Amino acid sequence: MEDFATLTYNGQKITLPVVIGTEGERAIDISNLRAETGFITLDPGYANTGSCLSAITYMDGEKGVLRYRGIPVEQLAEKSTFKETAYLLINGRLPNREELTRFSVMLNDNSLVHEDLKTFYQNFPRASHPMGILSSMVNALRSFYPALTTLNLREEITITMTRLLAKIRTMAAMSYKISRGHKVVYPRSDLTYCENFLNMMFDNPVRPYQINREAVNALRVFWILHADHEQNCSTTAVRVVSSARVNLYAAISSGIAALWGPLHGGANQAVIEMLTAIQADGGSHKKAIERAKDKNDPFRLMGFGHRVYKTYDPRAKIMKKMCDELLESLQINDPLLDIAKELEEVVQKDPYFIDHNLYPNVDFYSGIVLRAIGIPTSMFTVMFAIGRLPGWIAQWKESVDDPKWKICRPRQVYTGAQAYDFVPIHARV
Ligand code: ACO
Repeated sequence: MEDFATLTYNGQKITLPVVIGTEGERAIDISNLRAETGFITLDPGYANTGSCLSAITYMDGEKGVLRYRGIPVEQLAEKSTFKETAYLLINGRLPNREELTRFSVMLNDNSLVHEDLKTFYQNFPRASHPMGILSSMVNALRSFYPALTTLNLREEITITMTRLLAKIRTMAAMSYKISRGHKVVYPRSDLTYCENFLNMMFDNPVRPYQINREAVNALRVFWILHADHEQNCSTTAVRVVSSARVNLYAAISSGIAALWGPLHGGANQAVIEMLTAIQADGGSHKKAIERAKDKNDPFRLMGFGHRVYKTYDPRAKIMKKMCDELLESLQINDPLLDIAKELEEVVQKDPYFIDHNLYPNVDFYSGIVLRAIGIPTSMFTVMFAIGRLPGWIAQWKESVDDPKWKICRPRQVYTGAQAYDFVPIHARV
């Protein structure tokens, strides 16, 4: 097979190397293009741009495939724990018993947050969005936990990553408790990662939280399904920001900010808001569908469509099944689930959605799952952020370990005014 591509322009011919991935994806390496031809490439939204070589996550958007470090996400969702999946993503392989124990001990030892952080929470206006708070608080962690100059870089990285994984769920639960004016619940060493989070969210002195197996399992699957998704918007934000050699807390904080957007992680909240609006409108989804198809209306059907998946999102398949099972086992009858299913059925037969390859994405059913386990809508995207943290860390670590790691600095095609002279204020019209 040819291992180069030829580009011809105005009689000039240059060859560009072709890079082939382990699953056969092909890329034209243009890293010398400008030096050799003076040209740059133009790709708004980077839809055709490979920004890195990566060995973490594989997805095939046409076939609906998603694997972490080679393992199908379906198998992880069925058999793995979130902690183990996080280890897999970050370290490249599943931990053995001893490694998992060491990892668990480190997470437990780092799960408390500095007491002074509480005062920060108390000073955010009550109506603040939890994603804005989380992004700020994660950034603030650097001030509380400055670089440890006594450690070498590897050890420093390990402790920083562990701190983040351990503290993020404490911080998320803390923000919820403080927003309700309730006493903060501390993590417990006898609980698992998922149990601990639910306990910190829902335990209170007058109604102690009873660990609910179904809720714990749903949270485990939810977090595993969100753990990584290769070079999506927030992960790219983490990679770009960290390429300036900023600390990991600041880089993760930027990922959280990107995830907040309704076209990305914020869609899980937006889906519930959309379904609720349909419910308030008497249950008819006709208006929403018509609006989504109208080119003059910016409205989109939330939870549908994906940059890479042009078929059913494999995560959405698992989420939908889990949603049914969870609601049944908890004996919850959520009318939004009926509306969601009806909407999906109608959309599946609509030529607009068929022609545009618009299928449910992971966010479509995830909000109903989160509602069932008692998570308030405003916290949905925070739940996504906790799940995505191992992926952000793994992607960050991969870029740090890359000997060719460079500052990310795209170019542009300038379309503004050509040079003209400064006009003094009295002479301006
Ligand atoms: N509803 C209606 N039309 C849609 C939708 C939608 N949800 N998504 C895409 N389209 C249409 C666009 O209008 C466009 O139509 P046109 O070609 O006739 O002009 C076409 O499909 C392509 O859309 P783009 O915006 O170019 O696709 P892109 O790959 O840039 O966007 C995205 C992907 C942002 C996910 C988009 O599908 C969307 O906005 N979906 C709704 C928000 C959402 O659910 N986001 C979560 C994504 S998953 C995640 O981040 C975890």
